[in-house]
Amino acid sequence: MSIVIRPLHPLFVGEVTGVDLSRPLSGEEVAAIEAGMDRHAVLLFRDQPLTDEQQMAFSRHFGELENPHGGNIPRKDDDRRIRAEMNDVSNLDKEGRPLDRESRQRLFNLGNMLWHSDSSFKAVPAKYSMLSARIVNPLGGNTEFADMRAAYDELDAATKVQIEDWVCEHSLMVSRGSLGFPDFTAEERALFKPVRQRLVRVHPVTGRKSLYLSSHAGTILGMPTPEARIVLRDLTEHATQPRFVHVHHWRLHDLIMWDNRQTMHRARRYDEAQPRDVRRTTVAGDAMTVAQAA
Ligand SMILES: [Fe+2]
Repeated sequence: MSIVIRPLHPLFVGEVTGVDLSRPLSGEEVAAIEAGMDRHAVLLFRDQPLTDEQQMAFSRHFGELENPHGGNIPRKDDDRRIRAEMNDVSNLDKEGRPLDRESRQRLFNLGNMLWHSDSSFKAVPAKYSMLSARIVNPLGGNTEFADMRAAYDELDAATKVQIEDWVCEHSLMVSRGSLGFPDFTAEERALFKPVRQRLVRVHPVTGRKSLYLSSHAGTILGMPTPEARIVLRDLTEHATQPRFVHVHHWRLHDLIMWDNRQTMHRARRYDEAQPRDVRRTTVAGDAMTVAQAA
């Protein structure tokens, strides 16, 4: 078997065949997938039933796993449905039942339906995310991806010059606050302290620039906040026009991986009375995009 990547969209996203993700990959396979990620930014692998251990082992071929701590409201270990090294992106409690409508966990997780880049609220933000479908919801629940390189490329020249060195502050309190999420505890405020990110990123391998937007971004340094929010909304509206977006319709045992440095994504609404079990591993990034405040 050898790896083949078929483009699924004019700008980005490829479907990979010829590899079994449940087994250790060869060096050639890892290199082919990395090269595919650099080019397509999102890769789909169909028919890959994985255990949590297999998903973690696959992910570790591309770097250290990111610690999910700080990416959600704090939970006691015995409230957790899946292992602490993975992100639970399901709508389920630890007994496997859909969360109550008013559940604080559910309300927080609804933020995944805003356009974002995973862990942009961390000083060293994520490289790749891998999402594995263990139970597919019967209605809705698509994941949409936006190509932030193409979105950058299509900005006018004056805007590119203007935004080149802009630095934003990102926090989970911004994205959740925009939904009217109720009060944060003192512990959460400390955990979700804003971090700085460049608005224009350069990909370390290809050298391509991209717009580093995320619903977690709430301020631009040196700009009044309402003005910054308008600018960020305008840029997000530009970057998520249909021509930059790919819609993924989930099938059981799909695995999708994406490069958070080059894309944004969002989940769409689904029937929350029915289970949706998708599990994420995250490959940590290796550098800050800009120095943090002292
Ligand atoms: Fe996400």
